[in-house]
Amino acid sequence: MTLRYMPDAGRLYGEEYARDPQAIYAELRRRHGAVAPVEIAPGIEAHLVIGYQAAVDVLTNAGGVWSKNPSAWQTRLPDTPDAAGMIAMLGHRPNALYSDGAEHARYRKVISDCFTLVQPHKLRQMVIEVSDSLIAQFAAKGEADLAAEFARPIPLRVFNLLFGRPDSDSVALSKALSDMMEADGEVGARGSDEFGRYIGELIQSKYAQRGDDLTSWFIDHPAGLDGEELVHAMVLVLAAGFDPTSSLISNTISRMVSDDRYYSSLSNGALSTYDALMEALRAEPAMANYGPYFVRRPVHFHGTWIQPAELVLVSYAAANTEPASVPEEQRSDGGAYLGFGAGPHRCPASDPAVLIAMTAIERLTSHLCDLELTVPREELLWRPGPFHRSLAHLPVRFTPIRPDQPGESPWAPHSPSSSTPSAPTSPARSAGYMTTSAPWSS
Ligand code: HEM
Repeated sequence: MTLRYMPDAGRLYGEEYARDPQAIYAELRRRHGAVAPVEIAPGIEAHLVIGYQAAVDVLTNAGGVWSKNPSAWQTRLPDTPDAAGMIAMLGHRPNALYSDGAEHARYRKVISDCFTLVQPHKLRQMVIEVSDSLIAQFAAKGEADLAAEFARPIPLRVFNLLFGRPDSDSVALSKALSDMMEADGEVGARGSDEFGRYIGELIQSKYAQRGDDLTSWFIDHPAGLDGEELVHAMVLVLAAGFDPTSSLISNTISRMVSDDRYYSSLSNGALSTYDALMEALRAEPAMANYGPYFVRRPVHFHGTWIQPAELVLVSYAAANTEPASVPEEQRSDGGAYLGFGAGPHRCPASDPAVLIAMTAIERLTSHLCDLELTVPREELLWRPGPFHRSLAHLPVRFTPIRPDQPGESPWAPHSPSSSTPSAPTSPARSAGYMTTSAPWSS
């Protein structure tokens, strides 16, 4: 779909964008102000909201004109592989992310209620065990790609456990998701089938026997999700949680090991892991531009006419780094700015996400205290794509540690899978992480 009046759209794809998106946002800001025309794939255009106040106006539904329902937009897309790819990312599903009003409130309540039941200290213990088992796999080597070997597997294994599956099932889940997300054609389709099978079997197993886990709580929640809604809720939690959390972990580590203020904090406490996380959420939010919105009627918005059926993307990344942004003392976001969004669709799991990322990074830096990048940060490669800010690799070196050395180590006895890192955690054990019972269960 072509926007009516803006031929000089900025490109949110390709190498130039992946290398330095902030340079593109700055140029768009200079040329267009708070709202700029962009292409998210060849021939597929959108309005990118890059001003902080404009972003807040969309997210908080100022004027009541904003909607999350993409149906009118997606039916007008051409029949091309690029358009199909965008529909896969942005197309309508019966879930919280794509609904408004009472429908949204119902879907969202299931997610937020159930995440409230996850006990922080138990989630923390789960992340410690998963992190240590991963660190144990590379700690003796003295080098690692922390994106592939640490940041990506952590949320995946944690979600698999939160859903109430044994740790061994995360291998199949990981394979399905990486095939689905990174490959086209046959491999992608197979990944998608395998992912569907994972979710289907997961739900069937919990229908047959409930546990103290997210899946069972979703099934029994008083909102009474039907089978299809349940599948979409589980898929949304995994899709919305896995990739941004892994990117948050690797983006934060990359800042900590390349900035003296954080590096020195590993030994003398200048700035904390939490500070680094907030800085990553502000300057490089993992969901860089993944804020799709639509107008219900034609609107003149911060200088740009927007029509129904045109895609509007909130750029958390550009809005957060706007030079003349809101003064620090007027913020109530703890420094994360719009990294977790704002308004009715604000991330319902920001607390567990920060807990997962912080715990994982603290385990890593406590075991390996002299991490350094093997290439300058400016030379790190970022994954292409208009929606996320996510490192493709995070190569580091460090002084190796050994299983037989004295003191605390990732091989210490608390870790169930320490000696064989991918060893299964039994179903009983995974359920034991969360002994809270849902208030609505009998
Ligand atoms: C435990 C991990 C996470 C889970 C389960 C999760 C889940 C979700 C869900 C279900 C939504 C949709 C809410 C709604 O539409 O009402 C959402 C929104 C959002 N999440 Fe998260 N998320 C997680 C981690 C993260 C992380 C790490 C980030 C950023 C680094 C993030 C950023 C956002 C943003 C910006 C939105 C708002 C999207 C919008 O305005 O449309 N989330 N998240």
